[in-house]
Order: sequence, then C-alpha cells, then structure tokens
Amino acid sequence: MLKIEPLESQKHDRANFSCGKDSLDNYLRKQASQDLKRRVATVFVLVNEPEISVLAYYTLSSYTIDISALDESFAKRLPRYPRLPATLLGRLAVDQTQKGKGYGELMLVDALRKSLEASTQIASLAVIAEALDENAVNFYLKYGFQTFQQDPMKLYLP
Ligand SMILES: CC(C)(COP(=O)(O)OP(=O)(O)OC[C@H]1O[C@@H](n2cnc3c(N)ncnc32)[C@H](O)[C@@H]1OP(=O)(O)O)[C@@H](O)C(=O)NCCC(=O)NCCS
Repeated sequence: MLKIEPLESQKHDRANFSCGKDSLDNYLRKQASQDLKRRVATVFVLVNEPEISVLAYYTLSSYTIDISALDESFAKRLPRYPRLPATLLGRLAVDQTQKGKGYGELMLVDALRKSLEASTQIASLAVIAEALDENAVNFYLKYGFQTFQQDPMKLYLP
C-alpha cells in the first residue's frame, strides 16, 4: 500500500534511491535526516508498505520572498512589505524506476495540501519550487506554477 510519511532515518531505506540527479540523491542519503533534526526542513517519503525503500520524497520549509520578484498582477494585490511569507518546496524527486506512474503528481499534491493546511496556522502566500533543470521547470508549469521574473529556475504557486 502506498504511503507518504515523515522520513525516519532508522526505518526508511535510502541507500539505492536514484532519481537521475546526484545532488537530490545525495541529499536524501546524507543530509535529509540532519535537516529534519535541526528543523531546517521537513522531509516526506513515499513507500510501498510493507517495503521500506523510498520511492519518492519532498522537503518543505518556511521561506520569504522579495515582493519585487513577483509578477505585477500578483504583487499589486499584496501589501508593500519588502519580504513576504511563503513555503519552500525545496526538493521533489521520484526514483528513476518509478517515473511516469503519477508519483511526482501524488507527491506534489500532497506537498501543496500540507502547505495550505499549515498556512491556516502560520501564514504563507505561495509555494516556491526550485527547479534543477528545464524538465523540472516544465513539470511545475504543468501544475500552474509561474516562474520568477529574475530567476526562471524558481517558480511560485499563489
Ligand atoms: C520531475 C519528476 C518529479 C516527475 O515525476 P514523475 O513521477 O515521473 O511524474 P508523474 O508520473 O507524476 O507525472 C505527472 C504528470 O507530469 C508530467 N511530467 C512528468 N515529467 C515532466 C516534465 N519533465 N515536463 C513536463 N511534464 C512532465 C507527466 O507527463 C504527467 O502528466 P500527464 O498525467 O498529463 O501525463 C521526476 O521526473 C524527477 O524526480 N525528476 C528528477 C528530479 C527533479 O528534477 N525534481 C524536480 C526539481 S527539484
């Protein structure tokens, strides 16, 4: 049974995770549990229970954005504070053997749902995604994200 749950370093097997991007693979293996422990990011993994190998993961953190980086049509509805609160979807990756099964969409929707729920307690006006390449940009564009004017590898979803 597919399940999305918080990363537990003692439980989840990350050794063979490979999404095609070394930085994302190494992050999950070496850095994710540290970030979790230090409250720098939350890390959620997809597993197919009772198996414990990670099929996909994403991270969420608090973030601030510069109002001047936003599209004018969105920015004009916002107060002119220099920094505005947002949620960072810092990383999202699916194991290469699992691509094309809808897991990327499943993880993205779960991350957006959690972000929306959290924003009722701690305000956040958008989810920010950082793409590593053009493929990732296209993936996020498909779900309504818009690119930042100054940085086409960074996207936001109000
Ligand atoms: C991008 C990624 C997360 C997509 O995961 P996935 O599980 O293969 O995607 P899904 O099967 O859920 O696909 C969902 C939809 O997105 C589309 N899609 C997938 N990759 C896409 C891409 N590169 N460009 C445009 N659309 C894409 C699929 O066609 C599908 O649309 P459809 O339902 O209309 O056919 C995955 O390829 C990945 O891990 N890439 C490497 C890491 C990465 O770049 N992460 C993102 C930035 S940190």
